[in-house]
This record gives sequence, structure tokens and C-alpha cells, in this order.
Amino acid sequence: MSKLAIEQYKQIFKSEPSYLYRAPARINLIGEHIDYNGGKVLPACISKYIYASVGKRDDEQIILKTTFDGDLRQKSLQNLAFNNEMGWEKYPLGVFYILKQKGYEIPFGLNIVFDSEIPMASGLSSSAALLDLTVYLVSDIYALGLDRKQITLIAQEVENSYCQLKSGIMDQAIIALGKEKHALLLDCASFTYTYCPMDLGDYEFVVMQTNKPRKLIESKYNERVDECQRALAILKNHYSINNLAELKVSDLKKVESLLSDALLYKRVRHVVKENQRVYDFIEAMKKGDVKTLGRLLNESHLSLKEDYEVTGQHLDSLYEVALQANALGARMTGAGFGGCAIALIKKSDFSSFACKVKESYKKDIGIDADVYEVDIVDGVNRL
Ligand code: GLA
Repeated sequence: MSKLAIEQYKQIFKSEPSYLYRAPARINLIGEHIDYNGGKVLPACISKYIYASVGKRDDEQIILKTTFDGDLRQKSLQNLAFNNEMGWEKYPLGVFYILKQKGYEIPFGLNIVFDSEIPMASGLSSSAALLDLTVYLVSDIYALGLDRKQITLIAQEVENSYCQLKSGIMDQAIIALGKEKHALLLDCASFTYTYCPMDLGDYEFVVMQTNKPRKLIESKYNERVDECQRALAILKNHYSINNLAELKVSDLKKVESLLSDALLYKRVRHVVKENQRVYDFIEAMKKGDVKTLGRLLNESHLSLKEDYEVTGQHLDSLYEVALQANALGARMTGAGFGGCAIALIKKSDFSSFACKVKESYKKDIGIDADVYEVDIVDGVNRL
């Protein structure tokens, strides 16, 4: 795949690229839709990448290309304001825009060819990968000296203020900070983290892709963020909290009596219980207790389905068929509304598991699912 990014670069720009970078996709093991509520999350980088081959220009043009889209995107560094016509190029262009706004010096343009193994809008965070990749390569080439925490924060700012998605910090953080064979236990309120080894012996996490085209994901995502903010504003009158995830499971009874809107209560119940599940998951990981891990995955999925309402029939089908195919547990991963799910299975069962899931999903939904094994890898890097 890196080869394609290099080949296309040569074809288009009639020269060799000077730099090659890559950023991985991510899964989230548990802690879903709680990063923007100040909760703890447990994501990991997986071995599917976006590559970028890059060269400097003598003028102030940014020329962008992806290998899956015919057209070149070209903008001057002087004219980077967002407009609604923009497609995927809003992510890289937003990075240049925000960095310039912050006063970083970007004196010349770049040619960049991206090639992605991460299916777009598949719930594996191709957008955060593209953002982190661009911040990383810009910092490297213009010697801006950004560390991985700064890369995370700038990428998130681009997504929030330029691309207009009120995303939390999880995806940008894991793609910047990911470590081989480890998940990242990230406290999203304080932006502090530790690494959690992912050795599960005979067991592994596998990825299942719904292949459902995701629509309206931005508006539905932003709607959940708003609901949580509304609930928080009410509860702040009764609790001294900055984030919903500061509430405990034992607070829920009182919370229910304080929130007259039953829908808001369901959202809060998901956040609070999901945050507790992250703690329980970490304990089970330490003990290698795969049975408990499986149960927590299932509880998480059902909470995202019933209380948070972000799964939908494609993800629910994958969840069901994975359990029928002997997974210890399964759940959607990422924002939901289509996208991907993960399952915890015995490594030696992979082939039969994948076959059964694909067959039953096709019967149930009428389209093909993809099921694959992944390695847990490092975050964004120069090659
Ligand atoms: C998307 C967002 C993340 C996070 C997840 C849900 O991937 O980018 O910030 O909120 O959804 O956990």
C-alpha cells in the first residue's frame, strides 16, 4: 500500500517523494461514547494504515490526492477557509488552516498522496488517522516540534472547529500515542494515560465490518453530545461535577429522580455504567479472565443499543451472530450507526468463526460482512 502512494506520487509530480509516513486505524475495546463525558476509554491501534508520500513545493500551493479518488485537490496556503463543498480534503486542509491560525510558520506548500487501507466511514477512525497523519507530517517537515500530546489536541481541534464534529479526544489520542501490543487506558478528563498489555494467550480480538454505508453520522453523533450536555447542565445544580462520568453507579437512582426526561436519563445511565465497565475490564485483563471480558463486551453493546441508541440493525446482527458463532463476547466499536464491531474469540477458532459470522450476517442482512484478525501496533510514524 505504501508502494501505491509512492507510485502515484511519481506519476503525478514527476519526481520521487521525499518523505513517507503512516497512521494506523483504531479499535476501542471498551468505554464507548464516554470520552466527551470525561470518562475512561481503552482503544488500541490496529494494523491497517493510511500512508502519505510527501514532497516540498517552491510555491504556496497544497496539492492533495488520494489513490481512491481521481481528482487532485489544490489550495493556496493563503486560502484555506472551510467550505461545505469539501470532501475528505477538509481533514488535511483543516490542519494547515488551524496551525497557521495558531501562528506556526508554514512558508511553502506540499504535494501529498494518501493511500488508505482503512475503509472510509467504517468506524475504524479513518478521519482521525488522516488528521493525526497530517499534523505529524506537517510538524516533521516544517520542524514545528509538536509532541504527541500536542498532535492529539491539534487534530481534535481541527475535527471540532474546522470539520464541525464535536468528537471527543479518544481517536486522535490513540493514533498519536498507540503502542505495539498494548491498549491505551486514557482518562479523557485529565488527558493522562497508562498502557495496558494486550496479551490474552489463546484468545484475541477480531474486527467485524458491517459494510453499511454510514449516513448522517455527524448529526446523530452531535445530537448525543448535546443530550449529554443538557443532562450535565441539569445535574450540575445538584452535584459538584464537571463531567457525567464523575457520577457513580450508586448515584443513578437519585439521578433518575432529578431528570424528568427519560431519554436523558438513559443516556446518563449508559455513560455511568460504561465508565464502571472500563474499570472492571482492566481488572479482568490483568487476571486474563476472558469470561468476564466477554460479559463486559456484551453488556456494553446492549447498553449502546438500548440506552444510547447508536447501534442499528447491522451492528446488532453482527453482535448476535458473533455470539452464536462462539465468541466470548462482542460489541460495536467507535461511534456506531454502522461501522465495525469487535469480538473476543479463541485464536484457533478464527476460520470457523469468520465463516459462520459471514454466512449468518448475509442471511440476516443481505450484504457481506468482513471479518479479520489484526495486530496491535504503534501510532503514527515516519517510515
Ligand atoms: C467517535 C469519536 C470518538 C468517540 C467515539 C465513541 O469515534 O471520534 O471521540 O466519541 O466515536 O466512543
